[in-house]
Amino acid sequence: MNSGNQEPDPIENASDRAAELFRRRFGDDPAVAHAPGRVNLIGEHVDYLDGIVLPMAIDRRAAVAIAPSRDGATTITAADLSLEYRADGPPSSSPEKSTDLRFANHVLGVIAASGGVDVPLSILVTSDVPPGAGVSSSAAIEVATGAALAACMGREHPDPLRLALDARQAEHDFVGTPCGIMDMLVSAAAEPGAALRIDCRDLGFRSIPLPHEDRLGFMLVDSGVTHRLSDGGYADRRAACERVVATLGHSLRDAEIEDLDRPDIDPVDRRRAKHVIEEIRRVDAAIDALLADDPDALGSILLEGHSSLRDLFEVSVPELDTIVESAASLLGDGCFGARMTGGGFGGSAIVLHEPDRLESVRDRIESDFSDRFGRRPESMIVRTSRGVLVKPRGRH
Ligand code: GLA
Repeated sequence: MNSGNQEPDPIENASDRAAELFRRRFGDDPAVAHAPGRVNLIGEHVDYLDGIVLPMAIDRRAAVAIAPSRDGATTITAADLSLEYRADGPPSSSPEKSTDLRFANHVLGVIAASGGVDVPLSILVTSDVPPGAGVSSSAAIEVATGAALAACMGREHPDPLRLALDARQAEHDFVGTPCGIMDMLVSAAAEPGAALRIDCRDLGFRSIPLPHEDRLGFMLVDSGVTHRLSDGGYADRRAACERVVATLGHSLRDAEIEDLDRPDIDPVDRRRAKHVIEEIRRVDAAIDALLADDPDALGSILLEGHSSLRDLFEVSVPELDTIVESAASLLGDGCFGARMTGGGFGGSAIVLHEPDRLESVRDRIESDFSDRFGRRPESMIVRTSRGVLVKPRGRH
């Protein structure tokens, strides 16, 4: 983890490690790209509904190393999982069905989305973005795959939006998650020291500077409940909101809460849509708070967002609620606010804290959690990071 000033550069580390593992496995020199995971500050479950989101890239990265294969087969090695996918010929243009090898779909899906290639490839993936923690480990792999593939094939470096669109296509067609654009676009386009405002309607994006890290720190607390967004709850929420959009005849981005007050909208769907309308407004309010350099105001907005995800959108779990409640009990006492982050059904909460109160905040949150659930949760300090970076072949 990159928590001190003198620690090694995580960006160089990710790249060198992947190249070294690749050389050991394939005896060749790869093109390497590496891309970060993300934490969404605010704007949850609105990216697939024309909303605005405000994620930031974190200093945990996935690296993908690629070179043309020397043995006629396409191999995808998941170095951290000790798993390997292998098939004759160029990368398959259809998803891998066997459960053990499903990890390969994140890579195969991006290759297919980018137009495919007609030569067999050797590919190695390694990552320190924790899977299942709600910090977009998949998007990091997909974005890195797109960039490494272009570098390996001598194609022009794709712009961030292209990388993000191909990654999303891979999720939809190969992985089976009907996700939005947020995770991939921030992984492709983020700048350090800033969050990324993404308008998911016109796909415009721009950096919003965050307060200096001496004033505002970010701690991720993992609920330990592993989420799989392809399991159904995510698609179900999306379908509920899309029913409301169809009934209204226009986007929720343009809707008022009163518009939902009609008998042909199901009461559960109405709650889901109310969350979306209010959450989009919270993003604007959060940006105002950041521009006013007001972490207290930002923290309150995050707490409101959590309540809405818990009560209206119903994607939180008791473990996440407990983390957020204990953070809320520390307002004015080291903590600015907290919320679950990402798709939900488990994953992590993000806690905004005063950097010099970190230890007491962390201790309180972990011990409240352990009193209730009988185990201490994993927590990690995260800092902002830069979007995807590439090293062509021959540069290691
Ligand atoms: C997941 C999806 C994103 C987004 C969030 C919820 O992370 O991949 O596209 O919908 O859930 O905000």
